[in-house]
Amino acid sequence: MSGMLFALETGSARSTRQVGVALGRAVRPGDVVVLTGDLGAGKTVIAQGVASALGVSGHVTSPTFNILMVHRGHVDLAHFDLYRLEHAEQLEDIDFWGVIEGEAVSLIEWGDRFPQALPADVLTVTLVITGDEYRRIDVSAPGARSSELASEWCAACAAIDGVTVSDESGGAL
Ligand SMILES: Nc1ncnc2c1ncn2[C@@H]1O[C@H](COP(=O)(O)OP(=O)(O)O)[C@@H](O)[C@H]1O
Ligand SMILES: [Mg+2]
Repeated sequence: MSGMLFALETGSARSTRQVGVALGRAVRPGDVVVLTGDLGAGKTVIAQGVASALGVSGHVTSPTFNILMVHRGHVDLAHFDLYRLEHAEQLEDIDFWGVIEGEAVSLIEWGDRFPQALPADVLTVTLVITGDEYRRIDVSAPGARSSELASEWCAACAAIDGVTVSDESGGAL
């Protein structure tokens, strides 16, 4: 499995949220997704869409101070934000590996800060601010499960108004 790469472009937070909803419909228990990108790029907007698709009722915000928030849904959502974590050893304090190896769907904001801590087959979503309301969303899937998830998600995104999907060479799909 050589992995999969594609990019999305959105022109509003609402479209990015819909992209998150599509991801939330495609994930299965135990999936792990890393969300990377600058502050304000839209990582939490994606997480809010995923949470909505999973039937989470409360409001989802970045768990910057708690590091981890688990939300109850049809499937539980384990939402991490590693921005304030200083050392990889602190991951044990929050049972990082116990949680990501469990049955929840794990979303890890700033997961790229601790790459050695991540499983090999993880979907990585990188948000890039390209304008006030514009975001490019680069998706990479290095293994079998993440690629399967990526292709299902990619196909669903192509049907969302205001979202452009392109393959790794930049051509429209
Ligand atoms: N196309 C877009 N996609 C996502 N967010 C957008 C977009 N355009 C504007 N925004 C705004 O950018 C901010 C993203 O915030 P947030 O998701 O909390 O960022 P992060 O979690 O990456 O720090 C929100 O205020 C959102 O309304
Ligand atoms: Mg955030």
